[in-house]
Amino acid sequence: MSAVGEPGTRLTRSPRVAAGFIRRGEVVAFPTETVYGLGADIFNEAAVRKIFAAKGRPADNPLIAHISSIAQLESLAAAVPSDAARLIAAFFPGPLTLVLAKSGRVPASATAGLETVGVRMPRHALAQEFLAACGVPLVAPSANLSGRPSPTTWQAVRADLDGRIGCILKGAQTEVGLESTVVDCAAGDPVLLRAGAITLEQIRAVTPHVRLADDLHASRPRSPGLKYRHYAPRARVVVVARPEEAVTGPGAAYIGLDSPPRPVDFARREICAGVDAYARAMFHFFRRCDADGIEIIYCQAVAERGIGLALMDRLRRAAAIAHG
Ligand code: TXA
Ligand code: MG
Repeated sequence: MSAVGEPGTRLTRSPRVAAGFIRRGEVVAFPTETVYGLGADIFNEAAVRKIFAAKGRPADNPLIAHISSIAQLESLAAAVPSDAARLIAAFFPGPLTLVLAKSGRVPASATAGLETVGVRMPRHALAQEFLAACGVPLVAPSANLSGRPSPTTWQAVRADLDGRIGCILKGAQTEVGLESTVVDCAAGDPVLLRAGAITLEQIRAVTPHVRLADDLHASRPRSPGLKYRHYAPRARVVVVARPEEAVTGPGAAYIGLDSPPRPVDFARREICAGVDAYARAMFHFFRRCDADGIEIIYCQAVAERGIGLALMDRLRRAAAIAHG
């Protein structure tokens, strides 16, 4: 893509080529079923620091370790309590991150100094091939500039991080579109720290005593990352209960399940076939609105059950951002 000697980000579809960058201490963006991640060798502190630098991520925000085998999990966690073991049996591999007491092998730089580590095993076939080729767990946050919507396509990764990272492993648009569910199993009853595609109802069916973090919707959450500006496009986000509440105009966009009365009067609009499709489309829609110079995005609210809990969480956070 670029001339020899110029800083450039390599684009590839080969998990083996991408794993070569990891072995050389570089950072690599890769697809998962949730969103694209930005990975580095968990045991290489210089590589882990490159993640924070490339994203502009605050150093006190811990990273999730991505594994390709249960044996790797056992090397990262000091203990796997019985609730965690049940959740692993039910949902690994998949869009679930478990927070566990960390072993001495996990460097402090990966967990922002916490005594716990978040661990997840993606089910995405290309992610699994890539992780297996790396041979080590990778710490990986979402592969966006800090504060931007999470990337669901490799083009979104390139728009944010071209020239700042070694390599992008190209895959399709991600299937879920929202980040993984995060459940803290490090001490006592499991606590839902972040809603995601593995729903609260599914978690409850396996561990009925799971609690919601008191601060799931508060401004000082337990999951450190949730206190930061997140998920927001440059445009203002307004959540509306009914499509009739959205106001048309040249700088206005609309996304939801039901069509507004005059859809063509919105500069951009997307009517989603169901809540899963809405979740999958949202971050991509936000980014396209920004590219179009949209000023206000109306988002139809959905019922807070199933993946609707996670979708409403992200919409509220995007809407809570003060603009101006
Ligand atoms: O789906 C996902 O989880 C994606 C893909 C790439 O796997 N990753 C992702 O990472 O969303 P990130 O860094 O954007 O979000 C990780 C969240 C943050 O809110 C962080 O604070 C929380 O997980 N987290 C990580 N380790 C934690 C720990 N030890 N204790 C509590 N929260 C933790
Ligand atoms: Mg993120």
